[in-house]
Amino acid sequence: MASILIKGAQIVSMNADEDVFVGDLYVENGLITEIGTELQQDADRIIDAKGKVLLPGFVQTHIHLCQTLFRGRADDMELMDWLRKRIWPLEAAHDEESVYYSALLGIGELLASGTTTVLDMETVHHTESAFQAIAQSGIRAISGKVMMDHGDEVPVPLREKTEDSIRESVDLLEKWNGFGGGRIQYAFSPRFVVSCTESLLKQVRDLSAKYHVRVHTHASENRGEIALVEAERGMRNIVYLDHIGLAHSRLILAHCIWLSEEEKEIIRKRGVKVTHCPGSNLKLASGIAEIPDLLNRQIHVGIGADGAPCNNNLDMFQEMRLTALIHKVPQGPTAMDARTVLRMATMGGAEVLGMSREIGSLEVGKKADMVLLDLEDYHTYPSYDVDIYSRVVYSATRSNVDTVMVDGNIVFENRKVMTMDRSI
Ligand code: GUN
Ligand code: FE
Repeated sequence: MASILIKGAQIVSMNADEDVFVGDLYVENGLITEIGTELQQDADRIIDAKGKVLLPGFVQTHIHLCQTLFRGRADDMELMDWLRKRIWPLEAAHDEESVYYSALLGIGELLASGTTTVLDMETVHHTESAFQAIAQSGIRAISGKVMMDHGDEVPVPLREKTEDSIRESVDLLEKWNGFGGGRIQYAFSPRFVVSCTESLLKQVRDLSAKYHVRVHTHASENRGEIALVEAERGMRNIVYLDHIGLAHSRLILAHCIWLSEEEKEIIRKRGVKVTHCPGSNLKLASGIAEIPDLLNRQIHVGIGADGAPCNNNLDMFQEMRLTALIHKVPQGPTAMDARTVLRMATMGGAEVLGMSREIGSLEVGKKADMVLLDLEDYHTYPSYDVDIYSRVVYSATRSNVDTVMVDGNIVFENRKVMTMDRSI
């Protein structure tokens, strides 16, 4: 693997202290091996980054690559209507090729906008195609086949037998978990309680312990969804997940907008992780998640764009900006300050995935997943006398992305997505 020396960047390391400085960074065998000034090592590639900003790659902790092709459908609807009328029929119409191209399209957009790691949820069928696109693209991803073995409204082609859902998930896990030196991992993905039997959820609980893999699901996004869970299971959503033993530290919940005090405490005590999806929460009129409160409780929270139809793109710059803005009017200008938001988009995401020793900040020994921004355009001139967190969160866009690396491989450069290994 090539060695790379990045020279003279404004490094925003997202470490606890001294996290902004001008310096050099050396990458060897996919890892950051040295950070300093005036580094003189030989390198296969030297990048002159003077005037540019080097950040850890963004970590998105909830997306649906299989939904990228669905963007732009008329979807001014709430969650349950939108799933029944738009998303589930479209997912039912997917085939091997359309899942593959949907994933490639989404990954291209993610890499071009600085996202280097994702937690992805696929659809019921053809998840193998999504893993192939992930493997070829070079992005770091944890993904899984959606599980849906319950619910009269789920279209017949998407409704599974419990044992088929489990068997297909385990087959995919055994093939893909750990692929590419650990760049690809598997997560069990029961879609949400509404679409899953208790038997399936309990088997997922046991299998996630056996294989030590994550469980990725949606929870408490919409009041209609919560009412369905209460009507069938006789408990609030998170209370139910705890009741069946699924509320553990490898559980990652997307949305968590409507939580009772008891549910927040379950999440905190059990070490459950949360993903904030501000664009999606606005588009589907789901509500405003109480993220400052969750962070105050020391709950780990990441950010995700959700599916492309939820907000029409997968761009972390938009999600960061919404995360910061959404709380300002009710709670004041510093309710979610720019550094807190940038931290959620990097280290926070790494914590949600249990990967904070490997990714999420620029430190010696960590994986070389990073994004180099060129902010020297008319929006942000002059360079060094403004707060860098505010510049990135409030004024940067994907057009400022210069170079993106995963595992020390350049995956985006010169406005092009680079790595395509079709031999996989
Ligand atoms: N809840 C269950 N499935 C979905 C989905 O595909 N998107 C969103 N936003 N919420 C869900
Ligand atoms: Fe989602």
